[in-house]
Amino acid sequence: MKKTDILIIGSGIAGLFCAIKIGKKRPDLSIAIMTKDKVKNSNTQLAQGGIAVVTDCIEDSFEQHIQDTLKSGGGLCDEEVVKMVIHQAPERLNELIDIGVSFDKNKSGIWNLGLEGGHSQHRILHHKDISGAEIEKNLIETIKQLSNITLLEDHLVIDVDTKKNNGRINCTGAFYCDKINKKVKYIRAKTIVLSTGGCGQIFKNTTNPEIATGDGIAIASRAGAVIKDMQYIQFHPTALYEENKNPFFLISEAVRGFGAHIVNEDQKRFIFKDDIRGELATRDIVSQAISKEIEMSGNPYVYLDCRHLDFEEFYSHFPSITEYCKTIGLHPEKDLIPIVPVAHYQCGGINVNKKSQTNIKNLYAIGECSRTGLHGKNRLASNSLLEALVFAHQASEHIAKNIDDLSFAPKDAMLQFDEPLMDKDSNYFMKFKKELQTMMTFFYASNDSDFVKILNRIESMKMATVGLLFKKKKITTQLIEFTNMLTVAKIIIEHHKTKVLKSAVMY
Ligand code: SIN
Repeated sequence: MKKTDILIIGSGIAGLFCAIKIGKKRPDLSIAIMTKDKVKNSNTQLAQGGIAVVTDCIEDSFEQHIQDTLKSGGGLCDEEVVKMVIHQAPERLNELIDIGVSFDKNKSGIWNLGLEGGHSQHRILHHKDISGAEIEKNLIETIKQLSNITLLEDHLVIDVDTKKNNGRINCTGAFYCDKINKKVKYIRAKTIVLSTGGCGQIFKNTTNPEIATGDGIAIASRAGAVIKDMQYIQFHPTALYEENKNPFFLISEAVRGFGAHIVNEDQKRFIFKDDIRGELATRDIVSQAISKEIEMSGNPYVYLDCRHLDFEEFYSHFPSITEYCKTIGLHPEKDLIPIVPVAHYQCGGINVNKKSQTNIKNLYAIGECSRTGLHGKNRLASNSLLEALVFAHQASEHIAKNIDDLSFAPKDAMLQFDEPLMDKDSNYFMKFKKELQTMMTFFYASNDSDFVKILNRIESMKMATVGLLFKKKKITTQLIEFTNMLTVAKIIIEHHKTKVLKSAVMY
C-alpha cells in the first residue's frame, strides 16, 4: 500500500473505534490500520474491569461521576474535558452495544453495575471479567465488514514524516517495517491517528503486554509534538504476585468492589489507616498504602482475601481470574492471593485538544497514548475505555469534516528502502531492556531524585544502541522498540525533574 487517506496506528479500542466511525460516515475514504503485532495484541484485550458510564439516573448522576473523576485526578484534570467525556458516555456506550458488545445484566434485565475504587456509585458496565476481550472481538468483526478499511498486522511504524508548511509542521506520511516481507517501507497519508497505547514495559513489574513500549509517544515527540504529564504513571494495587513474571496477571479492581479485602501477613486489613474508603479508595492511595506495608514487613507482597465472599457468585463474575489463579495452585475461596502494585496506566501522553488534535497539523492522538486532561494525576478506574471511545469519536468527526480540504504530499523519489529488515538481535537488547526496566522500577519505588545519574545512563544506552545500528547497518524491530522505550523513559524522568524543580521554587 503506497497511500491512504487516513492512517491509524494501533489496534486497541481507540484505533478500531475511530476507524469504524470514519469508515461508516465516509465510505469514500480509504483507511489503513497498522498494528505492529496481531490485531488482538493490545492493552484493550486484557482489560478486565469495564466502562464507567452513568446509566442509572436515580441513584447516580453525571455530576457525581464528574466529581469522582476530578477528585481522583488530584486537581490536575481539565474540568471541561471531564464534563464532555461523562456527558457523552451514554451515546458512545450505545454505539458499542449496536455493534454487538454485550454487558452483563442481572436477573431482572437491569445492568449489573460494578463498583471500583474512587467511584461513589456502582456504575461500571462489564462483561464478566473479560470486558476488553468482548469489546475487541466485536470491533474487529465490524472492521472486517467495512470494505474501505484495510487492517495491516505485523506493520511496525517507525516514524511519522513531516514537512513544514507556512511555518507549521505538517504530518504527511509514515515509515514502517513490514515485518512479513522484512522491508522498511513508506506510506503517504492525508491524516494520521496515533492510538498506540501505553508504555508499561519500561517497568520491570507491569500488567501491560510486551508490545506496550511507548511507540506513539516516542514517534510524536520526535516529530515535535507536545508531550505532557508523563510522570503520572498509575500503579494498579492488585496485580497477582509471581516472581519474575512479565507481564503480571491483573486481579481486577472490581474484585474489591465485590467485597474482597486487602490484608497483611497477620491477616489484618490496613488500608483504612490511610483512607476511610479502605480498599475502595483511589488507586494511588491503595497502591501507596500497600507499598508502605511491603516496606515495613519486608515481605514482597500483601494479600487479597476473597474467602468470605459467596464463591458461586464470585465465580460467575470473575471466571477468568479464578481459572488463572487455579493454574498456579491458588483457590480464591480458600487461599489468600498474593498481590503487589505494578505499573498499569500512563495518565499523561501526547497533548491533544477536545478534537484529539496534536499541535502538529494532520496528526491526532487517541487512547492511552494521548493526554486529554481527563485523568489528571491519577485516572479514575474504568474511565480509560470511556476516554478512548469519546476521543476516537471526536477525532472521527473532525477528520470526516476536514479531510476534503487536504491533499497528499508530493511523492518523494528518495524514499526507497532496499535493505531487508534484520530478524532478531535478542540478547543484546534483552540485557539493556532489563537494566532499563529495573532502573525505572527502582526510580518509582524509591523516589530516587538522582535525575542526572539516570538521564546519563539512558543517554549511554542510547549511544550504544545507535552504535549497534551503525556497526550492523541494519535495523531490527527490537532496536526500534528499545529506542522508543529509552526516549519515553527520558521524557518521564525529565517531567519528574521539572515537577520537583517547580515545587522547590514554590515552597
Ligand atoms: C481493573 O479491572 O482493575 C482495571 C480497570 C482499569 O484499569 O480501569
